[in-house]
Amino acid sequence: MFDLEALRDEFPILSRTTYLNSCSLGALSKRGEARLRAFLDEWHTRGASAWYDCWLARLDDLRGRVARFLGAPTHTLALSPSTSVALATIAESLPVQGSRNRVVCSELDFPTLVYQWRVRPDVELVVLPSEDGVHVPLERYAEAVDERTLVLAASHVNFATGHVNDVASLASIAHAVGAFCLIDGYQAPGQIPVDLPATGVDAYTAGPLKWLCGGPGLAYLYVRAERIEALRPRITSWFASADPFAFDPATFRYRDDARRFEMGTPALATVHTALGGQELIDELGIEAIHARNRRLTDRLVEGLTDAGFTLTLPGPANRSAIVMVRHPAPAEAVRRLVERHIVVDHRPGHVRVSPHVYNTEDEIDRFVRALVEVGPTG
Ligand SMILES: Cc1ncc(COP(=O)(O)O)c(C=O)c1O
Repeated sequence: MFDLEALRDEFPILSRTTYLNSCSLGALSKRGEARLRAFLDEWHTRGASAWYDCWLARLDDLRGRVARFLGAPTHTLALSPSTSVALATIAESLPVQGSRNRVVCSELDFPTLVYQWRVRPDVELVVLPSEDGVHVPLERYAEAVDERTLVLAASHVNFATGHVNDVASLASIAHAVGAFCLIDGYQAPGQIPVDLPATGVDAYTAGPLKWLCGGPGLAYLYVRAERIEALRPRITSWFASADPFAFDPATFRYRDDARRFEMGTPALATVHTALGGQELIDELGIEAIHARNRRLTDRLVEGLTDAGFTLTLPGPANRSAIVMVRHPAPAEAVRRLVERHIVVDHRPGHVRVSPHVYNTEDEIDRFVRALVEVGPTG
């Protein structure tokens, strides 16, 4: 096990607030901040000359580190400005093929996943409803996906219910009928172990913002090695070209690797904070993080239930560290909790709580007590 006190000391926000909103924005570490300061110093002292011997290599460091973390070869990983752009890049790589024009997703997915297909007049969109408001069972996907399906698009962890979907089974369902499996994994890496090649998914998006404690302005896009060659995105950039430093507008050839999906100069400041966050996550180890988050979540669920709150909660086997508490006035409750230096979030009808590895049992208990005091005010 790791030294919790030393870990907490890495994250200054924890000394000021009870921070339980990592599924929205992971805390900034001193390591990330030091990386950012070093980048700013290089910018001050060396300017653009730092690109050639520092910054381009640092993009490689980040691609390599994140790929390893996801169990994937480095050449299958691309940097992208946001999850939305990463999803759009894949959507723009998948033209309709004759009668294969359907995309199947669910009403529990983050809207940007669904929007990619809603704006495509050539696509017939099937949005699966959720009967329990927590998840969509694999059988519903299996019933909806057939030889007319171009893409099965789903979330790894549902952003508003915390349900962990079985992405390997979703990939099998898609592949059984020749469809592409696209997964929005923003809420998974950093809180649960992820081994992408083992899942068989074709494309997977993630990013440093939340559980990886790396900040906004960057996302990661994995594309399964065997899929890369056939995908030719209709939105592109000089970073995607096989020879970007030829500066030749007369010819364009996609790179052979996943960097063919890149969309121009990445946010360098975030590359540095992301490297700091990723180093810490790597040092802690995802298995240890997962085990600790599980313990904190169990305590949170128990405390809230004992206090009389109703939760919108997946079964234990599919639970993550995102916990939804039903509440008649969630925005008001969140505002009143901020006055008590407790940071959580709200989604329609719910207060959303997301503890991470750096939180303590005391903080969980403090939050539960405070929510009781704040009361269902609506
Ligand atoms: C599951 C999921 N997908 C996508 C997004 C949006 O990502 P971006 O703003 O990088 O497009 C979020 C943001 O909260 C999310 O939780």
